[in-house]
Amino acid sequence: MGSRPGGVIDQNIALIGFMGSGKSAVAQALSAMLQRRAVEMDAAIEEREGMSIADIFRTRGEAYFRGLETEMLEELQGEEGLIISCGGGAAMREENVRKMKERGTVVLLRAAPGTILERVKDSEDRPLLEGRKNARYIGELMEQRREKYEAAADIVIDTDEKTVRQVCEELIRKLEGMKKEDV
Ligand code: S3P
Repeated sequence: MGSRPGGVIDQNIALIGFMGSGKSAVAQALSAMLQRRAVEMDAAIEEREGMSIADIFRTRGEAYFRGLETEMLEELQGEEGLIISCGGGAAMREENVRKMKERGTVVLLRAAPGTILERVKDSEDRPLLEGRKNARYIGELMEQRREKYEAAADIVIDTDEKTVRQVCEELIRKLEGMKKEDV
Protein backbone atom coordinates (compact mmCIF):
# COMPACT_ATOMS: atom_id res chain seq x y z
CA MET A 1 0.00 0.00 0.00
CA GLY A 2 1.18 3.45 -0.89
CA SER A 3 4.55 2.64 -2.37
CA ARG A 4 4.13 4.35 -5.70
CA PRO A 5 6.06 7.62 -5.49
CA GLY A 6 3.78 10.58 -5.84
CA GLY A 7 0.63 8.47 -5.29
CA VAL A 8 -2.23 10.03 -3.38
CA ILE A 9 -1.53 7.99 -0.27
CA ASP A 10 2.11 9.15 -0.19
CA GLN A 11 1.15 12.81 -0.12
CA ASN A 12 0.28 14.84 2.92
CA ILE A 13 -3.18 14.24 4.31
CA ALA A 14 -4.82 17.38 5.71
CA LEU A 15 -7.74 16.62 8.02
CA ILE A 16 -10.25 19.46 8.19
CA GLY A 17 -13.63 19.87 9.84
CA PHE A 18 -15.47 21.42 12.73
CA MET A 19 -14.13 21.34 16.28
CA GLY A 20 -14.82 17.89 17.70
CA SER A 21 -15.21 16.21 14.31
CA GLY A 22 -12.44 13.78 15.32
CA LYS A 23 -9.44 15.19 13.43
CA SER A 24 -6.94 14.67 16.25
CA ALA A 25 -8.05 11.14 17.13
CA VAL A 26 -8.14 10.12 13.47
CA ALA A 27 -4.71 11.68 12.84
CA GLN A 28 -3.19 9.69 15.72
CA ALA A 29 -4.75 6.40 14.62
CA LEU A 30 -3.89 6.97 10.97
CA SER A 31 -0.34 7.79 11.93
CA ALA A 32 0.00 4.33 13.51
CA MET A 33 -1.79 2.56 10.65
CA LEU A 34 0.15 4.22 7.83
CA GLN A 35 3.43 4.74 9.70
CA ARG A 36 3.32 8.46 8.97
CA ARG A 37 4.08 11.37 11.21
CA ALA A 38 1.03 13.19 12.52
CA VAL A 39 1.17 16.93 13.17
CA GLU A 40 -1.42 18.57 15.37
CA MET A 41 -1.49 22.18 14.17
CA ASP A 42 -2.98 23.59 17.37
CA ALA A 43 -0.43 21.77 19.54
CA ALA A 44 2.45 22.89 17.30
CA ILE A 45 1.24 26.50 17.56
CA GLU A 46 0.89 26.24 21.34
CA GLU A 47 4.39 24.87 21.63
CA ARG A 48 5.87 27.59 19.46
CA GLU A 49 4.06 30.41 21.23
CA GLY A 50 4.54 28.89 24.68
CA MET A 51 0.87 29.39 25.48
CA SER A 52 -2.45 27.66 25.08
CA ILE A 53 -4.79 28.40 22.16
CA ALA A 54 -7.23 29.91 24.69
CA ASP A 55 -4.48 32.27 25.96
CA ILE A 56 -3.41 33.20 22.43
CA PHE A 57 -7.02 34.17 21.63
CA ARG A 58 -7.34 36.06 24.91
CA THR A 59 -4.08 37.96 24.87
CA ARG A 60 -3.31 38.39 21.15
CA GLY A 61 -6.71 37.97 19.50
CA GLU A 62 -8.16 35.67 16.85
CA ALA A 63 -6.60 37.48 13.87
CA TYR A 64 -3.12 36.90 15.29
CA PHE A 65 -3.93 33.19 15.77
CA ARG A 66 -5.17 32.93 12.16
CA GLY A 67 -1.87 34.37 10.99
CA LEU A 68 0.00 31.70 12.95
CA GLU A 69 -2.12 28.99 11.33
CA THR A 70 -1.25 30.23 7.85
CA GLU A 71 2.45 30.40 8.73
CA MET A 72 2.36 26.88 10.13
CA LEU A 73 0.70 25.49 7.00
CA GLU A 74 3.28 27.24 4.86
CA GLU A 75 6.06 25.51 6.79
CA LEU A 76 4.43 22.10 6.62
CA GLN A 77 4.35 22.29 2.83
CA GLY A 78 8.07 21.67 2.89
CA GLU A 79 7.46 18.12 4.16
CA GLU A 80 5.94 15.00 2.66
CA GLY A 81 3.87 12.12 3.93
CA LEU A 82 2.48 14.03 6.90
CA ILE A 83 -0.92 13.65 8.45
CA ILE A 84 -1.91 17.18 9.40
CA SER A 85 -4.73 17.67 11.87
CA CYS A 86 -5.81 21.24 11.07
CA GLY A 87 -7.57 23.56 13.50
CA GLY A 88 -11.29 23.79 12.76
CA GLY A 89 -11.02 27.27 11.24
CA ALA A 90 -8.00 26.63 9.04
CA ALA A 91 -10.02 25.75 5.94
CA MET A 92 -11.88 29.09 6.08
CA ARG A 93 -9.00 30.89 4.35
CA GLU A 94 -8.63 30.08 0.66
CA GLU A 95 -4.92 30.69 0.93
CA ASN A 96 -4.69 27.92 3.55
CA VAL A 97 -6.67 25.48 1.43
CA ARG A 98 -4.40 26.18 -1.53
CA LYS A 99 -1.42 25.30 0.64
CA MET A 100 -3.05 22.07 1.85
CA LYS A 101 -3.75 21.04 -1.73
CA GLU A 102 -0.30 21.88 -3.09
CA ARG A 103 1.12 18.71 -1.66
CA GLY A 104 -1.78 16.83 -0.30
CA THR A 105 -5.25 15.49 -0.12
CA VAL A 106 -7.83 17.34 1.94
CA VAL A 107 -10.15 15.14 3.99
CA LEU A 108 -13.26 16.62 5.61
CA LEU A 109 -14.58 14.90 8.71
CA ARG A 110 -18.22 15.70 9.41
CA ALA A 111 -20.45 15.12 12.41
CA ALA A 112 -23.90 16.27 13.50
CA PRO A 113 -24.09 19.17 16.02
CA GLY A 114 -25.31 16.78 18.75
CA THR A 115 -22.30 14.51 18.21
CA ILE A 116 -19.96 17.51 18.29
CA LEU A 117 -21.53 18.74 21.52
CA GLU A 118 -21.01 15.36 23.17
CA ARG A 119 -17.34 15.40 22.14
CA VAL A 120 -16.54 18.99 23.20
CA LYS A 121 -18.78 19.50 26.21
CA ASP A 122 -16.10 18.84 28.82
CA SER A 123 -13.21 20.63 27.10
CA GLU A 124 -12.21 24.18 27.98
CA ASP A 125 -9.69 24.80 25.25
CA ARG A 126 -12.01 25.99 22.49
CA PRO A 127 -12.43 29.74 22.93
CA LEU A 128 -14.99 30.02 20.12
CA LEU A 129 -17.38 27.77 22.03
CA GLU A 130 -16.86 29.21 25.52
CA GLY A 131 -20.24 30.11 27.00
CA ARG A 132 -21.98 28.80 23.87
CA LYS A 133 -21.59 25.08 24.15
CA ASN A 134 -24.97 24.05 22.83
CA ALA A 135 -26.16 22.22 19.73
CA ARG A 136 -27.98 25.28 18.38
CA TYR A 137 -24.89 27.50 18.31
CA ILE A 138 -22.71 24.66 17.04
CA GLY A 139 -25.24 24.04 14.25
CA GLU A 140 -25.26 27.74 13.29
CA LEU A 141 -21.48 28.06 13.16
CA MET A 142 -21.24 24.79 11.24
CA GLU A 143 -23.78 26.05 8.72
CA GLN A 144 -21.76 29.25 8.22
CA ARG A 145 -18.71 27.13 7.50
CA ARG A 146 -20.26 24.31 5.52
CA GLU A 147 -19.75 25.71 2.04
CA LYS A 148 -16.05 26.36 2.54
CA TYR A 149 -15.43 23.02 4.20
CA GLU A 150 -17.13 21.16 1.39
CA ALA A 151 -15.46 23.16 -1.37
CA ALA A 152 -12.05 22.42 0.15
CA ALA A 153 -12.56 18.66 0.51
CA ASP A 154 -11.22 15.99 -1.82
CA ILE A 155 -12.75 13.32 0.42
CA VAL A 156 -15.69 13.64 2.84
CA ILE A 157 -16.32 11.24 5.71
CA ASP A 158 -19.32 11.26 8.05
CA THR A 159 -18.12 10.19 11.46
CA ASP A 160 -21.38 9.92 13.43
CA GLU A 161 -21.68 6.54 15.12
CA LYS A 162 -18.40 5.31 13.66
CA THR A 163 -15.32 4.32 15.62
CA VAL A 164 -12.01 6.04 14.96
CA ARG A 165 -10.81 2.83 13.35
CA GLN A 166 -13.82 2.66 11.03
CA VAL A 167 -13.23 6.26 9.98
CA CYS A 168 -9.56 5.50 9.26
CA GLU A 169 -10.42 2.41 7.23
CA GLU A 170 -12.95 4.35 5.19
CA LEU A 171 -10.40 7.08 4.64
CA ILE A 172 -7.74 4.65 3.47
CA ARG A 173 -10.22 2.98 1.10
CA LYS A 174 -11.15 6.34 -0.37
CA LEU A 175 -7.51 7.37 -0.74
CA GLU A 176 -6.78 4.09 -2.50
CA GLY A 177 -9.78 4.74 -4.76
CA MET A 178 -8.38 8.16 -5.69
CA LYS A 179 -5.04 6.56 -6.38
CA LYS A 180 -6.60 4.12 -8.85
CA GLU A 181 -8.45 6.92 -10.63
CA ASP A 182 -5.10 8.71 -10.90
CA VAL A 183 -3.35 5.94 -12.83
C1 S3P B 1 -11.00 26.63 15.96
C2 S3P B 1 -10.76 25.29 16.20
C3 S3P B 1 -9.78 24.81 17.18
C4 S3P B 1 -8.67 25.86 17.38
C5 S3P B 1 -9.25 27.20 17.69
C6 S3P B 1 -10.22 27.71 16.62
C7 S3P B 1 -12.04 27.00 14.97
O1 S3P B 1 -9.21 23.59 16.75
O2 S3P B 1 -7.85 25.93 16.23
O3 S3P B 1 -9.91 27.09 18.92
O4 S3P B 1 -12.06 28.16 14.52
O5 S3P B 1 -12.86 26.13 14.59
P1 S3P B 1 -9.96 22.16 16.82
O6 S3P B 1 -10.82 22.06 15.60
O7 S3P B 1 -8.85 21.18 16.81
O8 S3P B 1 -10.75 22.14 18.08
